[in-house]
Amino acid sequence: MKTPREHFEENDQGQVFAFYDSLSDEEKVNLDQQAAEIDLNELDRLVDTLVRHPGGGNESIADSLEPADCIPLPRSGGHQALWEEATEKGEAALRAGRVAAFTVAGGQGTRLGYDGPKGTFGVTPVLQKSLFQVFAEKILASSRAYGKPIPWYILTSIINHEATVAFFEENEYFGLPSDKVHFFSQGLMPAVDDDGKILLSGRGQIALSPDGHGGALRALVRSGSIREMEADGIDVISYFQVDNPLVRCIDPAFIGFHLLHDSELSSKMVPKAYAEEKVGVFCQQGGKSLVVEYSDLPDRLAGETTDDGELRFRAGSIAIHIFSRSFVDRLGSGIDESAKLPFHLANKKVPFLDASGSLQEPTDPNAYKFEMFVFDALPFAKNPVIIETAREDDFSPVKNADGVDSPQTCRDDQLRQYARWAKAAGIDLATDETGLPGISFEVSPFFGDNEDRFAASWDALTHKPELTDGLVLV
Ligand code: UTP
Repeated sequence: MKTPREHFEENDQGQVFAFYDSLSDEEKVNLDQQAAEIDLNELDRLVDTLVRHPGGGNESIADSLEPADCIPLPRSGGHQALWEEATEKGEAALRAGRVAAFTVAGGQGTRLGYDGPKGTFGVTPVLQKSLFQVFAEKILASSRAYGKPIPWYILTSIINHEATVAFFEENEYFGLPSDKVHFFSQGLMPAVDDDGKILLSGRGQIALSPDGHGGALRALVRSGSIREMEADGIDVISYFQVDNPLVRCIDPAFIGFHLLHDSELSSKMVPKAYAEEKVGVFCQQGGKSLVVEYSDLPDRLAGETTDDGELRFRAGSIAIHIFSRSFVDRLGSGIDESAKLPFHLANKKVPFLDASGSLQEPTDPNAYKFEMFVFDALPFAKNPVIIETAREDDFSPVKNADGVDSPQTCRDDQLRQYARWAKAAGIDLATDETGLPGISFEVSPFFGDNEDRFAASWDALTHKPELTDGLVLV
């Protein structure tokens, strides 16, 4: 049996062990373990196809693209009765305890530049509740409404796992039963240089990074989460990202459409705001659904309009999905050779040890990372369903420190949502032409996490407070 060092040396990756002899016994074991996790055959294939021979027919792919079919909202011409039927179906599944929430929170959050797991970042307008608290309260509110606990699975990565778990412990799981909140770490991939050589970030440390949100599927299987769900009678997994506090973590209509169509993977779309908007687009090709990244959709298609002047490729992907448990099992376990998520390449700045053992901090991209994307599962799914959702009720991510998709735009979108609910409940509230109220206030998910529940709680108040700056409705 070969040692990891011999195996790496035989595969032209001996530089990983260049400082091995100077390591302590513990460091040696650690490096051996990191090395043993790396599939050098897979890496070699990726380097060959993505780094050495890049490029690959996006134009020809684009030639046969068609817009995907989507189920429109009633306000866009969809059938009200169909939405009601879907809502009932989803509610029945929730009452039967068939649904789990799933958040991917393993990313590095570099654009936000916040020091800590992104889920611990404060986002609400008055109390600055963290993203994790917002989701926890929404999940708890839904559990109470349907009379069944909703387990919550959270994907972390080695970078933030401990800090994430500690945050939940310090905050007593925000009222959720601790045995219903499950954390597990995603896989890692090594960064390589232009020649495909694996980089070291320390003498006994390989430069590893998370394998992308697509890694969530195999992590669900490897961690045993899928088996646990099966044992608990969960067959519906409601997937969302950690950066979007507006998301309806548990949406009965969405769950219902997924079940009514016997779908393996369902997705929400919002009509693109303008042709150049930087979101992936749901398309169809050869009878399969897929998401085409904005950078891969040729301008001529992105700008194409229908006779009524609407964008033809308009179904923007907002990273909200429902997976059937059996589909995750099939894809994540890798048993189906024909259904494997591809890796994508990202050219990034990665600090690395040079041959003399000094740490270099590059100012330009010097390395390649490999990531899987969760939406690449779509072409493998049976009966994929794509439903339209209202952007203002489901999507306002915190990606950047300022500008678009920042804490400020997200805070404003939360305020607009509260203001819409308040006005719909008959409250007199001044807003500007974008619907933004002049005051900052906050609505707890326990008071209402949608227009109807808000109205019911408001009507039930014997003493109705005046909506003033800093008010929190709990
Ligand atoms: P993003 O693509 O926005 O990446 O992730 P990011 O790492 O959070 O932020 P930047 O690009 O470094 O600024 C979208 C969602 O996917 C999760 C993130 O945590 C976020 O919820 N994600 C991303 C993972 O769980 N694992 C990954 O490897 C990458």
